[in-house]
Amino acid sequence: MIKKKNIRSPGRAKPRPASPPRLVEVEITAIGARGDGVARLGDDQVFVPFTLPGDKVVARIEGKRGDGLAAALVEVTEAGSGRVAPPCPHYRRCGGCSLQHLDDDLYATWKRDLLVTQLARQGLGDIAFGDMLRVPPGSRRRAVFAVHRSKGATHLGYNARASHTIVDLDDCLLLERPIAAFLAPLRSILTETVPAGEDGDVTVTLTENGLDVLVEMDARLDLFDREKLAAFADATDLARLSWRRPGSGFVEPIARRKPALVRFAEMPIEPPPGNFLQPTQGGEQAIAKLVAEAVGAAKSVADLYCGCGSFSLPLTRSGAHVHAVEGDEAPIRVLEAAANQAGLKLTTEVRDLARRPLLAHELKKYQAVVFDPPRAGAQAQAEQLAEAGPAVVVAVSCNPATLARDLAILVKAGYRVETVTPIDQFPYSPHLEALAVLRRG
Ligand SMILES: C[S@@+](CC[C@H](N)C(=O)[O-])C[C@H]1O[C@@H](n2cnc3c(N)ncnc32)[C@H](O)[C@@H]1O
Repeated sequence: MIKKKNIRSPGRAKPRPASPPRLVEVEITAIGARGDGVARLGDDQVFVPFTLPGDKVVARIEGKRGDGLAAALVEVTEAGSGRVAPPCPHYRRCGGCSLQHLDDDLYATWKRDLLVTQLARQGLGDIAFGDMLRVPPGSRRRAVFAVHRSKGATHLGYNARASHTIVDLDDCLLLERPIAAFLAPLRSILTETVPAGEDGDVTVTLTENGLDVLVEMDARLDLFDREKLAAFADATDLARLSWRRPGSGFVEPIARRKPALVRFAEMPIEPPPGNFLQPTQGGEQAIAKLVAEAVGAAKSVADLYCGCGSFSLPLTRSGAHVHAVEGDEAPIRVLEAAANQAGLKLTTEVRDLARRPLLAHELKKYQAVVFDPPRAGAQAQAEQLAEAGPAVVVAVSCNPATLARDLAILVKAGYRVETVTPIDQFPYSPHLEALAVLRRG
């Protein structure tokens, strides 16, 4: 494990005199929203990662967390039922999959309950839930890896839990196999081309013509580096290799060997390098299917936060007039090109929907509205939708808390939540997507 530079500047704070570690013995009674076991210690709640209900553990108190205490697991002295052997050798070191010690029933119930709890907090207790849709390990088609070049080595992997420390990976069981197999050659080429001391990220996406790779690093490339990188793209048969210096809008194409194609309902699109895509193809198809079913026969549809059009393109092809809105221009241009190529007509708009949501009078012409915002949710947009009142609203979200908040705005305005479907595209983690269908009246 290696820490990225500039994360903690040495000398900024004087080292405190070491106080003896405070070890406690507690029994875990629940798993919290961030995936940590929860126990009581006097009047305090204690959060102990990598535990589950029924575990008796020795934990080391590390400090305050919210209105409770954060602790590190020292030892499980008695295991609760439902504890299984974690399948990944990086478990506990890597920050990615903190729930591998749960058996499948316990995991699935806890994950679904994340959504139930958030909805109940907003007074949405009486809701029909669809079965949780799940993707298998090994199906993740897009991943972002952290990189640090130290003097003797290149550290490449995911961040450790709540830290910028990089856990070096040679595999990850969640990844599509071609991405996992690419980690070793990627590490080698970064060692050859990036000077020691540099940090950055690499986004790797599996497309139907091979991997699409975007390196985001401050390192300046000279002609020799570019040639080496282009030869690497040939040797590893990449679809595309691009480089961006952080903070720069300019993406430098290093090699574009084949179109970096993915398909939305069989229609080819070539997303901009590093662009958002649903993390798994199966997840994307399942969500698009639920969206289409909910929209039904609506003839006019607004698709807000549309990205490259994973919902817009299929909806347009099935006969709806779609207005696709997105804050970033590049995916909108890709969507337009894909629609043209498929002979489909839709309208598009580049617009910051957090600052300038579609207003109620603009929304009135749509029979159905779909929104799929980032984690912060779509509060301002939900307020306008509540006022406009389209017959159907479909909310897709990767954050149960902001989803629940946005749904509550619509329910208060007279919508009925027809169904909420949990979608687990992030196995073993506390991240959960969901799709809610709301109808007027
Ligand atoms: C969760 S992604 C969904 C994309 C798309 N629906 C899909 O399935 O691929 C959220 C999208 O919202 C866009 N976005 C983020 N902030 C935005 C804003 N303030 N206004 C409009 N779009 C925004 C992002 O660029 C991204 O494409």
